[in-house]
Amino acid sequence: MSMKIPFFKQKESKANETSDSDNMPRHVAVIMDGNGRWAKKRGLPRIAGHKAGMDVVRDVAKAAANSDIETLTLYAFSTENWRRPTSEVNYLLSLPKEFLHIYLPELIENNVRVETIGDSTVLPDHTKDAVNDAKSKTMMNDGLLLNFALNYGSRYEMIEAIKQIAADVDDSALSLDELDEDVVSRYLYTNNLSDPDLLIRTSGEQRLSNFLLWQCAYSELWFTDILWPDFTADTFRQALTDYQQRKRRYGGV
Ligand code: FPP
Repeated sequence: MSMKIPFFKQKESKANETSDSDNMPRHVAVIMDGNGRWAKKRGLPRIAGHKAGMDVVRDVAKAAANSDIETLTLYAFSTENWRRPTSEVNYLLSLPKEFLHIYLPELIENNVRVETIGDSTVLPDHTKDAVNDAKSKTMMNDGLLLNFALNYGSRYEMIEAIKQIAADVDDSALSLDELDEDVVSRYLYTNNLSDPDLLIRTSGEQRLSNFLLWQCAYSELWFTDILWPDFTADTFRQALTDYQQRKRRYGGV
């Protein structure tokens, strides 16, 4: 049986976190890519890469909490991932339960709130149950919001929002004159969240892959060739430091 590694060693590592707390991103989103290639390089099945990637989630969540990031949104399963072989889909959808089985007690101890975005209706019951249990046990926590995008697709999210907006206009609950960016944002899964300030993608790919397309309109993008299972808390802190140097102009000068 493997030893349980503490999720946070908050006091001990706090001093090592990014020293300049100015201009920290409030919301960091991550496309955790490269698990398959990591496994292939080692002659392992793809799921070994996903398993290794799950442990990196713990390290990055810890680093995010210790850097006072408010929200960490992780792309764990996209609406396009159903196209993968059934065995891989089943494995990916078992990971939230496995992760929460190991780490939920420490998440609770460390005031982390677990949430998800995406269409959960079609997820297997064991995935939904594990996630709902974590959400209800952490809903009162006000530390890091650890937000898993599960069966998430940005275009689907927008279509659902458009349908709901049309229905509300039909019911006179909303008038077209009121429709602006804030109203549209409220109809998205990310309803109560600030937009990501920083989007990280690993593995050398430089695209958004249907992730938070509306929300990332003004996000700073940070890419690395490192494959997700090799990503570390230090690499995460490097991304934060680089973000801190950037000047965001939002279309202004
Ligand atoms: C992309 O790599 C990664 C995914 C589709 C899944 C990401 C999931 C995890 C890192 C684990 C999630 C953990 C929890 C706690 C839910 P890829 O398989 O496309 O890699 P490749 O491009 O090298 O083939």
